[in-house]
Amino acid sequence: MKFDKISQIVEGVPFIDIKNAKYLYDLIISEKLTNILELGIAHGTATCYMAAALDELGTGKITSVDLLEAKSSFSPSPEEQLAKAGLENFVQIVRMQTGYTWFLHDEIKRQTINDICQPEYNLCIIDGPKNWVIDGFTFFLVDKLLKDNGWIIFDDYEWTYTSVDEKRNVTDGITHRHLSEVERTIPHIKEVFELLVKQHPNYSDLIVYPDSGWAVAKKTTSERKIYTVKYQETTKDILVQVKHGIKSIIAGKN
Ligand SMILES: C[S@@+](CC[C@H](N)C(=O)[O-])C[C@H]1O[C@@H](n2cnc3c(N)ncnc32)[C@H](O)[C@@H]1O
Repeated sequence: MKFDKISQIVEGVPFIDIKNAKYLYDLIISEKLTNILELGIAHGTATCYMAAALDELGTGKITSVDLLEAKSSFSPSPEEQLAKAGLENFVQIVRMQTGYTWFLHDEIKRQTINDICQPEYNLCIIDGPKNWVIDGFTFFLVDKLLKDNGWIIFDDYEWTYTSVDEKRNVTDGITHRHLSEVERTIPHIKEVFELLVKQHPNYSDLIVYPDSGWAVAKKTTSERKIYTVKYQETTKDILVQVKHGIKSIIAGKN
């Protein structure tokens, strides 16, 4: 299904904006990413864009995971949006009692043969609670299931607990007053990306889009790490080489 058609069908339904939706749609088609894991569905708007891209490719599947307790929170539901677009056959929706970390447990167990976890996905989009403990752990679990040359995308790169309405005390099961001042004010996904993904030997092509809140990384064991920050107006590229544990910046431009 063409991008314009799916964008008309889901028009006005949160949470993905049109720019990120186009980026995701184009990435799936250009890289032929046909086995997708989506963590955090809400109304299924991003799901619809991804399913439309698979429809264009003529093949593929999306496994979309969310919380059981959130099932009735979103109207339209992902099932309704997918049915409206006629794309439901590309998507399996899984709702878990405790969330996506336990889904990933089940997947790793299912994919393990002779003590080795066989990777299966070539794209994972993480758009859930935006929490260091849950999403930091999720990154390591997803890494086990992501194939070489697969992609990982984080939403909410700069989101903080203090950025939400002061009257809200709980976000996705995390009680704000249980967090320290620092934990409430620091963006957790940024910490996950900068401290875990960027330092991980399996991830080399890293791009941060601060304006749209996305951070993207490619799974590749190349010794050359490229870290790019793309603002709407300017791009800052930092080329980093890591050899024998020694990091050197070999090029940087503004
Ligand atoms: C911002 S919404 C996702 C939006 C969607 N990706 C899109 O762009 O259309 C976040 C979703 O994450 C879900 N969520 C939060 N914590 C979760 C967890 N621990 N496990 C699974 N889903 C979770 C919420 O129920 C909500 O549906």
